[in-house]
Order: sequence, then C-alpha cells, then structure tokens
Amino acid sequence: MSELSSEWNNEAYVSLHLIQTMLEMAGLPRKSSYSHWHPQFKIYVPSTKTKKPVDFLVEDSRRYVNFLIEAKSAVYKIDDAARFQLKMYLEHSGVRFGILVDPFLIEIYGYNQGKYDLLDRHQIQNPNEVESLAIFLRKFLDSVKMRTIAIHSSKGGVGKTTLTVNIAFELAKLGNKVLVIDLDDQANSSLYLGVNKADELDKANTLEEFDDLLKSFEERKEVIDFLNLDFNRPTNYREYIQSSVFNQYLYLYQGKIDVLPSSYRTRDDKLPGFIGREKQLNKALLKSGISGDYDYVVIDTPQVAR
Ligand SMILES: Nc1ncnc2c1ncn2[C@@H]1O[C@H](COP(=O)(O)OP(=O)(O)O)[C@@H](O)[C@H]1O
Ligand SMILES: [Mg+2]
Repeated sequence: MSELSSEWNNEAYVSLHLIQTMLEMAGLPRKSSYSHWHPQFKIYVPSTKTKKPVDFLVEDSRRYVNFLIEAKSAVYKIDDAARFQLKMYLEHSGVRFGILVDPFLIEIYGYNQGKYDLLDRHQIQNPNEVESLAIFLRKFLDSVKMRTIAIHSSKGGVGKTTLTVNIAFELAKLGNKVLVIDLDDQANSSLYLGVNKADELDKANTLEEFDDLLKSFEERKEVIDFLNLDFNRPTNYREYIQSSVFNQYLYLYQGKIDVLPSSYRTRDDKLPGFIGREKQLNKALLKSGISGDYDYVVIDTPQVAR
C-alpha cells in the first residue's frame, strides 16, 4: 500500500473527499427531488438514553432505499467496534442498510429482523480516485431496487384489479417476490389474493356472523394504518403484510405474493391531513425499508370518485 497523505487520518476529510464525492458520482445529490442527505443524523439509543450522531443518512426515493454511512479514517480504520456500533445504529433507527468507509475499504451491511449481515465489500486502491467506489455503490443500490407498477384508470370496471392480480401472479411465477398494495376500499385484489376472508364472508349465514367478520378488520393492520405510521420510529412493516393463498402454488417457482391489504377502512379522509400527503405512499415505502424484500410492487388503485 502506498503512503497516504496525513489528511486521511481525519474522519471529516474522509467524509468530504471520499463519501460526499462518492454519493454525488453515484447519482445521489445532496438535495434533489429524489435524494437527500441528512448529515450528523441523530439516532436515539434506548440502552444509553442518548442520541448518537451517525455521519450520514442518505435517502433515495427512486429506489425506496435509505442507508446510514459512518466515516472512519486511516488511523481509526474499520474494525469490529465500528461494525458493532453500526449494527446498534441500524437496530435503533429502522434504517435497513449501513455503510462503513475508511480510505482503504468500504463495507455494506444489512439489518433485518435482528439479523446483521455483511452484504458486500470493496478494497479501495487509492482514495483519491473515487469513481470505482461510486460504481460499487451504484451497483449495490441497483441490486436492491424495487420496480413499482401502478395500475390506474379513472374509469371503474375496466380490469384494473384483474390486471393487478395477474401481473403479480406472472411475476411471481418468474421467481420474483411481489408485494401487491391494495389502495381500493372495495378491496377486490385483497379478496382475490385470499387475504380478506372471502370464504368466511361467503359462508356467513346471519347478520351477526357477518358483522363479526367486518369487525375483525378493525383490529387488523392494513394499508391505511401503514400510511399513517410514524416513520420517525423504527417500525416492523411486516405486521401489515399478509401472505397470499396463491403462495402454496408459487413456492415451486421460488416466487411469492404478499399483500398490503385494504378494506372498507381505506378512505381518503383517514389519510394524514398534512401538505404533501399525496407523497405518503412513496415516503412509507422508502422509510419502511421494504425495498430489500421485494422485486416488484404492484399497486391496485380505486377509481376516482368525481
Ligand atoms: N380481459 C377480460 N375479459 C373479460 N372480463 C374481464 C377481463 N378483465 C376483467 N374482466 C371482468 O370485468 C370485471 C371488472 O374487472 P375489475 O378488474 O374488477 O375492474 P376494475 O378493477 O377496473 O374495477 C370483473 O368482473 C372481471 O372479471
Ligand atoms: Mg378494482
């Protein structure tokens, strides 16, 4: 390894010259309509009752990916203590990915349901040449990118739901992990995909039985609750997701369909009332860290009342 200038002993120098340049080159500007850096992002650590700053939280809303970055230096290199600290930050922030960078090495970790894994690493030949690092980061981000397909038409009864369910099934048959998000209060895609008690509702004989079934939806977490989540807190979005009955046929293809279901409770007036609420689904998909779990999201929309 050739001698590095002593500036690389300074974490701030690494942040500025390596990390910030890498992000820009990887197509993640500091502030744009789709990407944003939060420098010195503070994470609350319950065990010590303190807020710890991590060097960057970076959000990329095109890919629904966010990640933390911690800078190290030529003297305080990436070591097990740094890896452990990153794990703790991921555990308490709800952020899915964490990156450690020193002038010699970059490591990407993923944290998911208590599991912490090294996903990829890259040796840095020369920290003054950032391009190969940017390419490495870009490749990683593209690998977690989730494609989103929204089925929309302002007319009803034209086959939106039929298309949603069939696209989801065909994609899953190709081995993809697919999440169907049902935004229609008529909840037909939830019904077709077998997560809305279709059989029970069919078999209900009395008004009471029917009422009880409807009441059971009130306790269930579904898309409207997902949209109302407080994403400043770590969340486990899996509580909002149901496995489709079709998965019993799909496991042969190694694909699956999960559903973020709706019901009669999915109503506009139940959405948060703040400005920018039309971006709430995008925000929820970004902050929940769902992108690491699915290849495709297919969204069934309601017809718009007019
Ligand atoms: N390609 C098609 N051929 C024939 N009938 C269809 C087709 N696509 C959908 N349908 C039927 O048309 C009706 C409305 O479809 P649906 O998918 O529920 O529409 P939307 O979600 O747009 O309201 C359903 O009864 C469905 O079975
Ligand atoms: Mg429909």
